[in-house]
Amino acid sequence: MSADVSLGFERNHPLVEPVETPRDVSPGLDKLDQRDGGEPQVGSLGLDKLDQRGGGEPQVGSLGLDKLDQRKGLDQRKRADAARRAAAAQARAFAEADERALDGLVSVRPRSAVPRPQPVWDDAEVLVHEPVGERYRRLVLACDTIARTAQAGQFLMITVPPSGGDTILLPRPMAIHRRRPATPARPATAHGPATAATPGTVELIYGTVGRGTRALAAVPVGGNLQLTGPLGRGFEFPAATRTALLIGRGVGVCGVMGAAEDAAAAGIRTTMVLSGRNPQQLLGRTDCAELGVTVLEATDHDGSSDLAALKTRLLTEFDGTTPGRTPPDVVMVCGAGVLARLAAELGADWGVTVQASLEAHMACGLGYCHGCAAPVSTDPSVEGPLVCADGPVFDAVLPVV
Ligand SMILES: Cc1cc2nc3c(=O)[nH]c(=O)nc-3n(C[C@H](O)[C@H](O)[C@H](O)COP(=O)(O)OP(=O)(O)OC[C@H]3O[C@@H](n4cnc5c(N)ncnc54)[C@H](O)[C@@H]3O)c2cc1C
Ligand code: FES
Repeated sequence: MSADVSLGFERNHPLVEPVETPRDVSPGLDKLDQRDGGEPQVGSLGLDKLDQRGGGEPQVGSLGLDKLDQRKGLDQRKRADAARRAAAAQARAFAEADERALDGLVSVRPRSAVPRPQPVWDDAEVLVHEPVGERYRRLVLACDTIARTAQAGQFLMITVPPSGGDTILLPRPMAIHRRRPATPARPATAHGPATAATPGTVELIYGTVGRGTRALAAVPVGGNLQLTGPLGRGFEFPAATRTALLIGRGVGVCGVMGAAEDAAAAGIRTTMVLSGRNPQQLLGRTDCAELGVTVLEATDHDGSSDLAALKTRLLTEFDGTTPGRTPPDVVMVCGAGVLARLAAELGADWGVTVQASLEAHMACGLGYCHGCAAPVSTDPSVEGPLVCADGPVFDAVLPVV
């Protein structure tokens, strides 16, 4: 069931993923992973060594078993506290790095000639809800209207039903990872077991990071979710684009996958960087194979996500020495501020347009609450752009120094 949602305005203007755990490589990238909720890697904090140093074998006789148990409990609590503190400090460091990376970088994209679709409210049936790898979950929702109208890079606001006595008041924003509209040949009403490829659906992929996403994970197949969308200003290929480079980090891959769908439909030769903590957690390989997109994997595990290493690799990949290595006509990025800056540096080298999808905490997603200010400096007397209504996709150009 769908109903129009009036935005009540049309603004003139038009995402980077969160945190992981302490890492030795590519520090700026793990901000994405915070959001993805990785457990702190206690071993990497050196706490195991601390325990070894503190102790040798416990002297059971002299301490007594009760005392030994107490000490064990205390040690565990201390370790957990230290890990929490380290993870929080790392999260702050990554947030600051991302904020610095976006400083002066993004601006609202010029008004598009293509009108934005009218958002709808939809009570969508959950057709598939399953784990994807170690960290994520896939949701396939029956909502053909949104599948038909959503533009690449747009998002939905999902109202999460109460779970275990917890009421989630505000809806949560999620990127539309895949759009699979029904066609006359493949109607939405087709029977048979639902799969990710069922027509008349959209696919989302999310990490469980807090109350909202934990409650979302409890929604059963056959249940319903209230959606509002499609929302925001998405990615748009400049006229005459022949080649494109897409960059996604963690669930930020979902932010750019719609652009890969559009590129495939338009015959645009596309390469996508899939970045993540380790190869097991990379999203999007199957989608890219289906869409004919060339994949470059970049992980913290082997250091290939390190920003300098990635930049060198991409400059080499697109060094113009053969027709197949011509620099792309456009770069589109989602998942980390530091990656948006890297994309802007590449765009400056190649003289091409860069579009970056940003993320913000959102209460309404509709431009009403004014709580998602974009990091764009404006005249202080004028309200600045909003990520939900003027983005999430912005132009990214290196500031002139
Ligand atoms: C346009 C847009 C598209 C998004 N697409 C996806 C997606 O495809 N898949 C996905 O897993 N997530 C996506 N997100 C992020 C997702 O909305 C949040 O992870 C989710 O709202 C967290 O809700 P929660 O109640 O579980 O977490 P909370 O309890 O609210 O927070 C848990 C932790 O996550 C952080 N966090 C929460 N929301 C955000 C946010 N918006 N940005 C950065 N950090 C956040 C908090 O600071 C906190 O550290 C998107 C966000 C936006 C704005
Ligand atoms: S989330 Fe309410 S204005 Fe952007």
